[in-house]
Amino acid sequence: MALVPVNDLLRKADREKYAVGAFNANNMEIIQAIVQAAELENSPVIMQASQGAINYAGLEFISQMVKTAANNTHVPVALHLDHGTDFEQLIRCIYSGFSSVMYDGSKLPLEENIAITKKVLDVARPLGVSVEAELGKIGGTEDDIHVSARDAMFTDPDEAITFVQQTGIESLAIAIGTAHGQYKGEPKLDYDRLTTIKKAVQIPLVLHGSSGVPDEAVKKAISLGICKVNIDTNIREAFVGEMRLVLDLNPTEIDPRKVLGPAREATVAIIREKIRIFGSSNKA
Ligand code: G3H
Ligand code: 13P
Ligand code: ZN
Repeated sequence: MALVPVNDLLRKADREKYAVGAFNANNMEIIQAIVQAAELENSPVIMQASQGAINYAGLEFISQMVKTAANNTHVPVALHLDHGTDFEQLIRCIYSGFSSVMYDGSKLPLEENIAITKKVLDVARPLGVSVEAELGKIGGTEDDIHVSARDAMFTDPDEAITFVQQTGIESLAIAIGTAHGQYKGEPKLDYDRLTTIKKAVQIPLVLHGSSGVPDEAVKKAISLGICKVNIDTNIREAFVGEMRLVLDLNPTEIDPRKVLGPAREATVAIIREKIRIFGSSNKA
């Protein structure tokens, strides 16, 4: 099956109250694991490549590997640029076949974020490519943000209305208490803010930094309007954790397939688990 636009997947998820997992892909084994997990769960899936992933693997390699995975499966697969901040690179992704791009202007003043998001939409829309934008600052767990400063980073519902009205964006990443990377304590999500934003903008919302968020909190966020859940750190933990285990048990192993094969299996298992939590099993 050809790559599908993320918006098509999210509109259905929004109607039927589940979320589609967006899993970060950095190499062939992780791409294979993501598609295998989606097949086993009969679920739609989003593979996303960050700018770091593109620097590591190369744009054409990422895009061709994901297209090959999509062409050889019956489940819907989307290829999405994660946290794109460079307009030129975003355009290159679109022309190399990505079915969705995120423009992350969250560090810019609102007006600038709106202006560049609109420019991206002008290119993407006629080509049937979806666009995700971000409002509010998601941050990293390494940022060590003081509780009183948290609110200032969260997505402002009034700004969200302005942003959606002025851009016409169809999916929005919001900051409601999650952070990228491994959490030090338990994240506390601002469900009231999520409810208010969803009611106001009525488009599919995206949760970033979802690794380490308790399952029940993720499910509640989905019930309140989150339709795309981003997972990277849990994949890194599973993949590299299994490699470490294999090498600890077999310190003389030199065959990469004997190390990467089990890592791929461990990745299938964690992604299947996430797909079940997100409620997208049998929604392919
Ligand atoms: O949102 C961030 C993702 O975990 C991607 O991380 O930029 O190191 O590839 P990365
Ligand atoms: P985690 O690494 O915290 O799961 O975040 C992933 C993410 O938000 C990618 O955009
Ligand atoms: Zn993110």
